Amino acid sequence: MTKSIGIGLVGCGVVGTGLLQVLQENATAIEGRLGVPLEVRRIAVRDPAAVRSPLVPQDKLTADPMELVRDPDIQVIVEVMGGVERAYEVVHAAILAGKHVVTANKALLAERGAEIWNLAEQHGVDVYYEAAVAGGIPVIRVLREALASERVLAIRGIVNGTSNYILSRMSAESMSFADALAEAQAAGYAEADPTLDVGGGDACHKIAILATLAFGQRVPADQIPTEGIDRVATIDIAFAQRLGFVIKPLAVARVVGDSLDLRVHPALVPVEATLATVHGALNAVAIEGALLGPILMSGPGAGAGPTATSVAGDLLDVARNIECCAHARVPSRGFRQVALRDAKLRDIGEHRGRFYLRLTVADRPGVLGAITSALGDNDVSIEQMFQDGGGQRSKRDETGPVSVVLLTHRATERNVRAALASIETHDAVVAPSQLIRIEE
Ligand SMILES: NC(=O)c1ccc[n+]([C@@H]2O[C@H](COP(=O)([O-])OP(=O)(O)OC[C@H]3O[C@@H](n4cnc5c(N)ncnc54)[C@H](OP(=O)(O)O)[C@@H]3O)[C@@H](O)[C@H]2O)c1
Repeated sequence: MTKSIGIGLVGCGVVGTGLLQVLQENATAIEGRLGVPLEVRRIAVRDPAAVRSPLVPQDKLTADPMELVRDPDIQVIVEVMGGVERAYEVVHAAILAGKHVVTANKALLAERGAEIWNLAEQHGVDVYYEAAVAGGIPVIRVLREALASERVLAIRGIVNGTSNYILSRMSAESMSFADALAEAQAAGYAEADPTLDVGGGDACHKIAILATLAFGQRVPADQIPTEGIDRVATIDIAFAQRLGFVIKPLAVARVVGDSLDLRVHPALVPVEATLATVHGALNAVAIEGALLGPILMSGPGAGAGPTATSVAGDLLDVARNIECCAHARVPSRGFRQVALRDAKLRDIGEHRGRFYLRLTVADRPGVLGAITSALGDNDVSIEQMFQDGGGQRSKRDETGPVSVVLLTHRATERNVRAALASIETHDAVVAPSQLIRIEE
């Protein structure tokens, strides 16, 4: 009998069922590349009695993931159930039992990754996670292996497809955020509770993982300045277009001196920039290497097929390691544990760049003067400024509020925010100001 590599699948929803499809449809190619077949021996789900795809073998289902961990015929645990606490218990137990782990769970890695990787290194097992960032784009492997000799200077990514879809629709159809979100939910691109996506938390988890791989530093995800796209208004999209920009949901990781500049926020990107051309639910990651220069990878960041393909790629890597007894040949985080240090994160106030500002003010004499003085007092100079009534004011409304939009020259964020705070004390300011960073 041909020996096979035994897999325990924890979770059989979108990604788990997708993995069964990949393993079934591509079984010949996989065995040809590996030399041995991969066999899913047990599957853990929350409710084994639920009706499932015909791809799911009912006789292998259990409600207890620990049964898979205890099974001596299972060498690799694939964790695609999501969540943090229960997933951590399963992964932790699997590593203690000497099993390798493949996971797609970015929340787990961002919150408990340090413990998981330490444990994996102590026990000489692999923990791979290609699908955890940008779904079908093999960015983890590129950073960990292809660029192992390179000094990465910067990563800029669109790593949340839901946010990119919403901003793309707002841009293409002049839709409101709420309408674009409702459309994304109807199309299956957004969860019923979209907070983690549109609030930036998901992208924050992902950039923390990428930054660790790129820079060999432990990055606390909860300290990364994070802003969601939920505060972008249709009017900002229209102004951005008028000024030659597109608003994109960016996650940025850069080396600045001895610190890391890490941030997640919507940004104005010049319309001719490559990231500006990544539309809809697509993801993209641009990496800048010291000697390599810039590269860009783009593709589907989620969905059964792309995500399961990444999970299956990890499974093949692990299986190859099992076959040649070379566990932990490539450290899961690209660096050996001893080489990792804690990242020093740059204060967002130190961020220096150009800014888009939109102020909503009463249309009366002296207001523009007050705005320009406040900016000048804080060393912020104006590159462009214009006033717009939004085209919606009727004659009756002529004294109603107007939008004053400014592009600043390069300035530090601390100064720009100080100027805004001063402007907002003016009684002509009738709504909170908008600040969006420009990413050159
Ligand atoms: N979906 C994507 O496009 C995508 C992309 C990249 C990464 N990911 C990541 O992949 C993971 C899975 O996502 P998904 O979309 O496949 O989720 P999903 O469709 O909700 O499936 C989750 C699966 O886990 C099972 N499960 C949940 N809690 C369990 C428990 N306590 N014990 C046993 N089984 C449990 C569920 O069982 P039942 O079937 O009985 O409910 C279900 O089969 C998540 O970490 C997600 O962030 C997903």
